[in-house]
Amino acid sequence: MDLAENRRLDEAFVVQNYGTRLPIAFVKGEGCYLWDSEGRRYLDFLAGIAVCTLGHSHPRLVAAIAEQAATLLHTSNYFHIGPQARTAELLVQASGLDRVLFCNSGAEANEALLKAARRWSAGRWGEGVRPTVITCLNSFHGRTLATLTATGNPKVKDGFAPLMPGFRHVPFNDLAAAEAAIDDTVCAFLVEPVQGEAGIIVADDAYLRGLRALCDERGILLLLDEVQSGVGRTGTLFAFEQYGIRPDGVSLAKGLAGGVPIGAAIFNQALSDALPAGTHGTTFGGNFLATRAAQTTLEVIADEQVLENVNDVAPYLRAELDKLVDRHELLEGVRGRGFMLAIALREEVANVLRDACAERGLVVNAVRPNALRLLPPLTIGRAQVDEAVAILDAAITSLA
Ligand SMILES: Cc1ncc(COP(=O)(O)O)c(C=O)c1O
Repeated sequence: MDLAENRRLDEAFVVQNYGTRLPIAFVKGEGCYLWDSEGRRYLDFLAGIAVCTLGHSHPRLVAAIAEQAATLLHTSNYFHIGPQARTAELLVQASGLDRVLFCNSGAEANEALLKAARRWSAGRWGEGVRPTVITCLNSFHGRTLATLTATGNPKVKDGFAPLMPGFRHVPFNDLAAAEAAIDDTVCAFLVEPVQGEAGIIVADDAYLRGLRALCDERGILLLLDEVQSGVGRTGTLFAFEQYGIRPDGVSLAKGLAGGVPIGAAIFNQALSDALPAGTHGTTFGGNFLATRAAQTTLEVIADEQVLENVNDVAPYLRAELDKLVDRHELLEGVRGRGFMLAIALREEVANVLRDACAERGLVVNAVRPNALRLLPPLTIGRAQVDEAVAILDAAITSLA
């Protein structure tokens, strides 16, 4: 399908909830590159918003998905599902937590954390006594009614009242505010180790460690949203590993199955016990296709030293970006961890810069009006960094 036909059908038949799409229709991907319907090649520094962990068409992921599709796609959770059980084992071993609940998206994974927290709280203090979950301003947790209420951004909530009761928001990276917000209605604190949609804002070491200590002291749960920061993006499988803490529950989605829709909530035993038979479920959650893709993604990350690659190439990317900051007045600085980065701009021109990059064959995202977000596949090498930085350099120069 060419771009004009694609656009016509989209505008005629698809709900227009994504605003204006860029005038590009990708038709093929291989490694860190995408090709559009006109045959143009792009270097992908977005990875489908932190989804395509292994780049595009990774041979092992392609083979696993093809084999699974040709064998068995779906049976339901009435039956045992081999790759679901194996993926759960891998996630438990990697997280140090106890059990995994599979679903289909990041919002659903957070919804599962919230439901488990409420039921855990009901078991401990009585239903409705301590239902409140504290989250952060500028956070993003999803678009279901509970997760949009949890989200700390008014735009996401506009027009959806009445919102879910039992949420309270505090400033991010402010331990005193967190402490002051915990009263005897609160059962949990939910936070992103790196705020993604806010423009890549990293939690301070002292903040996350302090939150862990605070939650322990007050007997409440620490829940982490690693939907964007998880699956190796910051250089460890979970960002929380770098803080030397372990949460009571953590959500994953995006990059977990390398591009196949999936979500996972990983619980400690107490949270897991709060969801006994019949309390939660979803038809597709943990199906053969999605969990075979997740299992393979996790195996490739381990077998092909993908985390080592992030930890080798990310400092190089950061150093090259810092040189750009020195050269261009427009750039204020670089923030983030691993391959979860933002370039802060002194003016609100991120959209224009994103378009200038796309014209030159580089896909990036304008996460805020004044911040460009870089989320490359975890498999990029130094050559791709050089290519991206050269395009960024030219694009920034073209703006001036
Ligand atoms: C931190 C975080 N949580 C939750 C979500 C929601 O995930 P999904 O879009 O898969 O529902 C996102 C998506 O951007 C996210 O970045």
